[in-house]
Amino acid sequence: MAYNDLRMDNQWLPFTPNRSFKDDPRIFVAADGMHFTTHDGRQVIDGISSLWCVGAGHNRKPINEAIKKQLDTLDYATAFNVSNDQAFRAAEKIAAMAPGDLNKVLFCNSGSEAADTSLKVALAYHRARGEGHRNMFIGRERGYHGVGFGGMSVGGIPANRKVYGTALLPRVDHLRFIHDPVNHAYIHNAEPLWTEDLLLELENRILPLHDPSNVAAVIVEPVAGSAGWYIPPQGYLKRLREICDKHGILLIFDEVITGFGRLGQPFASDFYGVQPDMLNFAKAVTNGVVPLGGVICTDRIYDAMMGAHGSAPGHAIEFFHGYTYSGHPVACAAALATLDLFEQEQLFTRAGDMGRVLGDAMHSALKGLPNVIGIRSLGLAAAVELAPVPGMPGKRVFDIFMDCYHRGVLVRNAGENLVFAPPFIVEASHIDQMVGVLADSIKKHA
Ligand SMILES: Cc1ncc(COP(=O)(O)O)c(C=O)c1O
Repeated sequence: MAYNDLRMDNQWLPFTPNRSFKDDPRIFVAADGMHFTTHDGRQVIDGISSLWCVGAGHNRKPINEAIKKQLDTLDYATAFNVSNDQAFRAAEKIAAMAPGDLNKVLFCNSGSEAADTSLKVALAYHRARGEGHRNMFIGRERGYHGVGFGGMSVGGIPANRKVYGTALLPRVDHLRFIHDPVNHAYIHNAEPLWTEDLLLELENRILPLHDPSNVAAVIVEPVAGSAGWYIPPQGYLKRLREICDKHGILLIFDEVITGFGRLGQPFASDFYGVQPDMLNFAKAVTNGVVPLGGVICTDRIYDAMMGAHGSAPGHAIEFFHGYTYSGHPVACAAALATLDLFEQEQLFTRAGDMGRVLGDAMHSALKGLPNVIGIRSLGLAAAVELAPVPGMPGKRVFDIFMDCYHRGVLVRNAGENLVFAPPFIVEASHIDQMVGVLADSIKKHA
């Protein structure tokens, strides 16, 4: 297929420089295993699991078959006042995988919707308990929680604040970012040990400023994914849990990236041994094949919401929220097949094992190359940070992304980072190819 077989006038591409795309289009027409086929018949290795989604690799027959079967059985049913069998089965499976008493699954369709859903649960939960004054949120600098107004507000992405700042939620503050470029520029499958307590600021400044009794929830990504794979200091999440508990504040982990295996365990919550009150997921739950997201809440939250309505008539809705496609049967069938496949092939363990191979390769091939100022690896993801071209933020990594693409490797440019997060089925030979091409390209763009 040639470019001119496609009219490109009508699709406005998301998070993509549209004008330059049209000069040099990057169009996939097929995928299998670790590879895409491009419109002109080339193979490109999916070094990023298509944005952290495709853990089991592309074109997995058990998932495809489950979707086809579901389409022929129950294609769709509204989610309000009635439900479907697949949604209950998927919720049961996800709750069984989730840590502790995270047992109640609210389905949605994306990570952005999961973020907004979790913030709304926090407000509704506190109100149900008679603490409606708890209406403040705390996020973190450079946090990414999607593109909805709630998620953007608790997120800390400067470009969002620049363009949409006036329309963001008013009662939000932010924790400091978790990166120390001087002492912990290079992290290899470890938790950096900080001499400074990063969370003192929360206890001594942010909470006293707003009064902790007004704070509904703190939301963080356990590992800051979209910003470029930044790893929290040792003990950080445990201490955050303790501070939240001390003040009756809910803790939300956004595990849209870390959920379902990326760190070699089901969730980052398992990896770090810290249970949040809500856990947001999306992406890998269906291997990316059909959109599905959700928020897993504790029994305590659910029970409080139900209890508060004890005296209300039986037809009263306890949580005034939901999406037309909440618990879509096809998406839930895809999730069930995906989670079975992860188990059958022990893909989370494999992600942990191959993560060490990826981390070794990144550190040994890239450290010391021109402009490299940091490398961070944990689980099956690794980032290399480069010094920007002066006055042109993001340009060097974009040029390297393009160059790698043309050499058959899909890498993610994020901030001044280039990130690999391949499917869990990745082999050492794929990693050699990915890291080798990236190393050459970094040298070329010195
Ligand atoms: C941590 C996190 N939360 C939320 C989102 C938003 O997810 P979606 O693009 O599915 O809305 C993302 C997307 O990358 C993410 O990484």
